[in-house]
Amino acid sequence: MARGGRKPPARTARRERVTTSTSKVNDTLASAPPVLQQRCLDIFKDALKPGFEDKDILQEVKGHLYDRNFAAAFGKEEYLRVYASRWSPSRALAYLQVFQDMDEHLDSSPVQGDEPLRVVCIGGGAGGELVGLAGRHSIRKTEAGDGYHPKLHAILVDMAAWSGVTGSLLKGIMSAPELSKYASQAKKDANKALLGGEDLAMDFQQQDVLNIDQDATAVFEEAIMQARLATFMFTLNELYSTSVAKTQLLLARLTELMSAGACLLVVDSPGSYSTVSVNGADKQYPMQWLLDHTLIASSRSRDSGTDYARWEKVVSDDSRWFRLPESMEYPIELENMRYQIHLYRRLSDVGG
Ligand SMILES: C[S@@+](CC[C@H](N)C(=O)[O-])C[C@H]1O[C@@H](n2cnc3c(N)ncnc32)[C@H](O)[C@@H]1O
Repeated sequence: MARGGRKPPARTARRERVTTSTSKVNDTLASAPPVLQQRCLDIFKDALKPGFEDKDILQEVKGHLYDRNFAAAFGKEEYLRVYASRWSPSRALAYLQVFQDMDEHLDSSPVQGDEPLRVVCIGGGAGGELVGLAGRHSIRKTEAGDGYHPKLHAILVDMAAWSGVTGSLLKGIMSAPELSKYASQAKKDANKALLGGEDLAMDFQQQDVLNIDQDATAVFEEAIMQARLATFMFTLNELYSTSVAKTQLLLARLTELMSAGACLLVVDSPGSYSTVSVNGADKQYPMQWLLDHTLIASSRSRDSGTDYARWEKVVSDDSRWFRLPESMEYPIELENMRYQIHLYRRLSDVGG
């Protein structure tokens, strides 16, 4: 049973066009079917085998995270499995909700013909984004019935060696869960993979996005150019902490490469957990302030000499809670998630 989950007030999931909230904390309620949410948790359980016996490794990982020593926290295969089995399941359910809430914005971004719906997840190796996207895509597939729905292509870019974790999760998404040999025929008949190869493709690129090797630049940039959505989930603040200047350059490159209508989604810890010191100064800037400064600050048109914006902010919320439904089952304790969220849409470079 997932613990720590006070039951939120019953209301429908948030759906909004432009939200800006600076003070209040918003609760989001999971609107995906509970069976699907449980299935997402089971994918983690079966792929990563979380258990009480991981408690010593978990303490080591927590220690490194507390010291903000991310290289150590994500530096061993066993740490990665334990991290992903502990933190990614609740994130996957939260992201499933986030992607559902974002649908109206994502649907308005362009897809050419039968091109796949490409999503690039920067810092997305731990699997929360992959399973959240797969869950959302399975709802989209059910809604489409026999009608057309685009294939989802998830491109996960991360500097740590997550390929074992992402490979196991992908296998879990694409296989029917194991059933007991005593399961009823009806259960056996209904036992299907969440998505098939015709619905989902995944690539994992092991890459430090702040120092992209020359050989890998073309592959990364092509993925960004074709992306309908790029995400930074609990990653942007880490990038800013590594280097503000390099992170600004990365965001500037994304701005150059992403096409009009494509979206950029940033989810991170709220408030003082996400502040950044610039040039080693004592003053701490909110991550969101730096982000707006880079994306929203206008560019000067070469043709007309006038200023124009390259991104519009379509959703912004300083603090939201995702609370796990009480009925969910998982072998170890999971936590509710508090986060800030910002969604930007690329505008066309009129006169740029
Ligand atoms: C806190 S974890 C978040 C994982 C996942 N996005 C989630 O929401 O659960 C941050 C991730 O960013 C990755 N990361 C940090 N710096 C990076 C860099 N410079 N290039 C690529 N990945 C990076 C880490 O390896 C780690 O997987």
